[in-house]
Amino acid sequence: MSIERLEQVKRQLAIWAREYYVEDAPSVPDAEYDRWYQELLAIEAAHPEWVRPDSPSQRVGAAPVQAFGTVIHRQPMLSLNNAFEPADVEGFDRRVREALEAIGASSSGTDAAPFYACEMKYDGLAVSLRYEDHLLVEGATRGDGSSGENITQNLRTIKAIPLRLPPQAPRILEVRGEVLMYRKDFEALNQRQEAAGDKRFANPRNAAAGSLRQLDPQITASRSLRFFAYGVGQVQQVPGAPADADPLPACHLELLEQLAAWGFPVGTHAGAEDAAGLMRFYERIGAARDGLPFDIDGVVYKLNDRRLHEQVGYVARAPRFAIAHKYPAQEALTDLLAIDVQVGRTGVLTPVARLKPVFVGGTTVSNATLHNYSEVERKGLRIGDTVVVRRAGDVIPEVVRYLPERRPPEVLALSEQAASAWRPTACPVCGSAIEQVEGEIAWRCTGGFACEAQRKQALIHFAHRRAMDIEGLGDKLVEQLVDQGLLRDPSDIYRLERAALTALERFGEKSADNLLAAIEVSRTRPLERLLFGLGIRHVGEEVARLLARHYPDWRALAAQDWPALLAHKQALQKQKTRKHAAPTGPIPLEGIGPEIFASLERYFKAPASLQLLGALDALGVRPVNPAFRPVAEPQDSADPLAPVGGPFAGKTFVITGTLPGLSRDEAAQRIRDAGGHVAGSVSRNTSVLVAGEAAGSKLDKAQQLGVPIWDEARLLSELKEQA
Ligand code: IVH
Repeated sequence: MSIERLEQVKRQLAIWAREYYVEDAPSVPDAEYDRWYQELLAIEAAHPEWVRPDSPSQRVGAAPVQAFGTVIHRQPMLSLNNAFEPADVEGFDRRVREALEAIGASSSGTDAAPFYACEMKYDGLAVSLRYEDHLLVEGATRGDGSSGENITQNLRTIKAIPLRLPPQAPRILEVRGEVLMYRKDFEALNQRQEAAGDKRFANPRNAAAGSLRQLDPQITASRSLRFFAYGVGQVQQVPGAPADADPLPACHLELLEQLAAWGFPVGTHAGAEDAAGLMRFYERIGAARDGLPFDIDGVVYKLNDRRLHEQVGYVARAPRFAIAHKYPAQEALTDLLAIDVQVGRTGVLTPVARLKPVFVGGTTVSNATLHNYSEVERKGLRIGDTVVVRRAGDVIPEVVRYLPERRPPEVLALSEQAASAWRPTACPVCGSAIEQVEGEIAWRCTGGFACEAQRKQALIHFAHRRAMDIEGLGDKLVEQLVDQGLLRDPSDIYRLERAALTALERFGEKSADNLLAAIEVSRTRPLERLLFGLGIRHVGEEVARLLARHYPDWRALAAQDWPALLAHKQALQKQKTRKHAAPTGPIPLEGIGPEIFASLERYFKAPASLQLLGALDALGVRPVNPAFRPVAEPQDSADPLAPVGGPFAGKTFVITGTLPGLSRDEAAQRIRDAGGHVAGSVSRNTSVLVAGEAAGSKLDKAQQLGVPIWDEARLLSELKEQA
């Protein structure tokens, strides 16, 4: 810790602050800025004598750009201190209690136990909206907290911002809140930017900032911005009234309700009485975060009693009565060390970034998907670049972009060809030719089962819990068995011998017996699981189930003339849409499109498939098929995707959160066995939401829509009753 280091940190932060606040073009993720800023705070805390007025810790934001007029904030727009750990939240609660006690000692009648208002921390741009005589007269950015830019004309274009307030509102009212852009609008904007040859925005917040700072309000108007209110600035019922004559509700939560009543969008908010309650809100919103339509970077806690705010006071320029509790950063910087190409089950080649390990989104990340070749090209990535890595929730980490200013000279000097030397011209695993299927972005290895990578993946899929469910036959063991030449295709699983297994490295007698027992029971899995496990293109679990309902066994599927059936189906469909048409019989395999028909034809006519199915049969793999309903039998419904029968027939279920006893798969299976349909998201068509621990946005939505909500116990009792 030296004064030289402090100066260096301040210089760097000043550069980044300018990029961020003034130019709307940050070159580093927030987490990087935060890291340096924390260092600055640590140095200044150890050496208060080094603190100068020019330190970023001594001001709220950056200077406004000059093109807009300046607005002096009649009440400063403050920033919040941050909490990252539960201990920081406890510290906040303690400081508030101490402050309240101190006040209680001097002002009688004050309750020393605090109550808090909890809100989301919107990741957008703070603005202040001034209403005089109920009309929007001025809107400004935060700027440096004391003065900001006059962007009234641009704010007027945001539909979420009321232009006029009802007469009950105070004659002078400044509403504060955040302007932001929904993720879907951000994606759409970037697509338009790209199509027009303009630069993409790094994230929704920069897109919102860039859109708001347009000199031409027409452009702002075309950008789908939103607004959420979270507080007020100056409030006067009568012009010139004293500042303490605030006519608004004394409690912040009621103030939010009041603002909502006057037409301002207000996000999820709740009360809490102590640090544990604050943490619960943090967890709840954290679980719902990825499902929100916009980005948040934390939650905000505020002392609910607004009358106490001034008395509880400030530390430097941040309030003591409020704090922001941040979620782990979802973006971080690291080095792109290499690009490997992986071959998937269907031969698709996926470039994968090997990264210098970095902590992001709550875990250490060292690999990230690059999706496909075009994506790497579009992003212009080169090995050796410094890249932004993003990991949001449970989503696979991805490389967002590289920092051009950090590209090392030797990487910059590479020719296009040398820079893309990582990109193979043949399958990196088996050396077979690769091809780009027409109409697809992906490149594929043409090796099929001859390709070891495809073989391994296909075997892993076959044995998977949701396919043939062979317990113990996971990724590692499949790799080992393929490498030893013991497995080539799924039929080899049923040829495995005990002696060969026990000879494997680190594979004991007990493991061998368990595996053989698991293989044994898999011989009579339901047909739909075999069909799914075969990995036929476009045949997922749902399609496999549908097929099993219409065909008794695989031989019937192999005997089907798929093109003829498709032609018949299309003819019936046409007839049905014709006016005054005579009623047709049920349409065969409704819900299965031409692409799947073509894939079934390809699979079941290929000699290799028939050979495999024949071999499985000879080895005693005889799937059962309780789901089969002969086609000739009249059905309740012409829609084969609709449940055929059972107590839950016609009902659509959604499962969310962690159930105490059942896994989600098990719960789904039971629902399906009872004839119900299981969907992924809640809508008006949902019959029941089955909710467990830590249920998030789906629960909120179900409550909003009035969808009945069951816990596991209720589900089980309904199943029992109806069985
Ligand atoms: S309250 C005195 N509430 O966070 C308290 N701020 O660092 C002033 N923000 O500039 C702010 N969501 O841009 C508050 N629910 C919320 C917020 C929020 C986002 C932003 C705002 C402010 C910054 C504070």
